[in-house]
Amino acid sequence: MNLADSSTLAANLITRGYKRVGDEADADLIILNTCSIREKAERRVYGRLGEIYKYKKRKPYLKIAVVGCMAQRLGETLKEKVPYVDFVLGTDRQFELPDVLRQFEGTSQVMTAFGHENLDNIAPIKETPYSGFITITRGCDNYCTYCIVPYVRGKEVCHSPDYIVDGVKRMVDEGAIEVTLLGQNVNSYKINGLDFPGLLERVAKETGLARIRFMTSHPKDLSKRLVDTMAAMPQLMGHIHLPLQSGSNRVLKMMGRIYTIEHYLRIIDYIRMKLPDTAITTDLIVGFPTETEEEFEQTLSAVRKIRYDSAFMFRYSARPGTVAARYTDDVSEQDKIRRLNKLIKIQQEISCEVNQREIGRVQLGLIEGFSRRSDKILRARTEGNKIVLFNSGQSKPGTVVPIKVHEADAFTLHGEMAGLN
Ligand code: 5AD
Ligand code: SF4
Repeated sequence: MNLADSSTLAANLITRGYKRVGDEADADLIILNTCSIREKAERRVYGRLGEIYKYKKRKPYLKIAVVGCMAQRLGETLKEKVPYVDFVLGTDRQFELPDVLRQFEGTSQVMTAFGHENLDNIAPIKETPYSGFITITRGCDNYCTYCIVPYVRGKEVCHSPDYIVDGVKRMVDEGAIEVTLLGQNVNSYKINGLDFPGLLERVAKETGLARIRFMTSHPKDLSKRLVDTMAAMPQLMGHIHLPLQSGSNRVLKMMGRIYTIEHYLRIIDYIRMKLPDTAITTDLIVGFPTETEEEFEQTLSAVRKIRYDSAFMFRYSARPGTVAARYTDDVSEQDKIRRLNKLIKIQQEISCEVNQREIGRVQLGLIEGFSRRSDKILRARTEGNKIVLFNSGQSKPGTVVPIKVHEADAFTLHGEMAGLN
């Protein structure tokens, strides 16, 4: 979501005559779009600000703006801690940066009031020529006890279906093959009786988009109707990101996640029955306050049972102001690290095994560009959101091609164009 917001902000500035520079040393304006999800994310921002300060010392006219979740969370405090920052704009104010720059040229500003004047004025933009993001809901009302998002991104609001459909259409007109619909919990999208599966149907029918993705889904709201809709529409890519967080019902309850592991497993069974080739990925937290070794083992057994294609795995990080921050953070850092490393090792073995199943199969991949190591090797994204590297003289970025997989590790598939020999 931050990537999408950064692109939107950059596009707003570019349409007003700003130019993107290749090297930050040449910039007259540097914007940090920040994340507060874990303490580490915030520490990194301070580190980056320290690096940027050296440019400001050389060029006092350089403007530094901090936007996004950390700007929202800290407001004036951030300005006090880092006085050389010129603008601190929270999550609902960040898109006003172009106006703020014009209006308050010589002075600094801190703006963190919630509330969008006109939500649908935030123009969506493409990330690459062939793929883009469109935010469909902003904010979150779930208040999982560990999570800072509802505090820094505010109440959930939905963009209008016309905004979303028109945004996708515009991207398709400009060459998009794939668009990802974004929200903290896309399944709770609801506006004038139109729910998320209904929205997907509109996008599929009215925009001509070839490949539709979405994330993230909350297990308490993911409906059978959504899975059935995916099964009925070939444009919907076979990937569901469904954060589990923990395999222990007691921990899930303390996290405020609403569902049980049994409910979650029933959803997985339904997805696998209706959409057998769909990749399923997740988020997991280890070391939540009071998590016992046995409860951590329950997460491991859930992971072994479900066999995710891949997972984002985190150590619990207490976030100020959240409910869980009031619990005693009694799992030692050492135990958190050990649990995380064990989980990562097991999940990586599973990812590797799951990916071996792709060998011999033909995947339809959208070519996004070239491999980082060689401009002779192309990089494509499969329907299941995996990266496949392959060698082909003829194909061009921006096309969807059949690729036969002949090698796989935990992170990447390798193959060749199918039909060539
Ligand atoms: N500590 C660790 N991980 C967290 N996440 C959210 N809040 C925290 C926290 N306080 C993780 C969750 C979520 C993902 C985006 O980040 O797994 O799904
Ligand atoms: Fe955070 Fe829970 Fe909302 Fe996800 S659903 S953003 S974890 S509060």
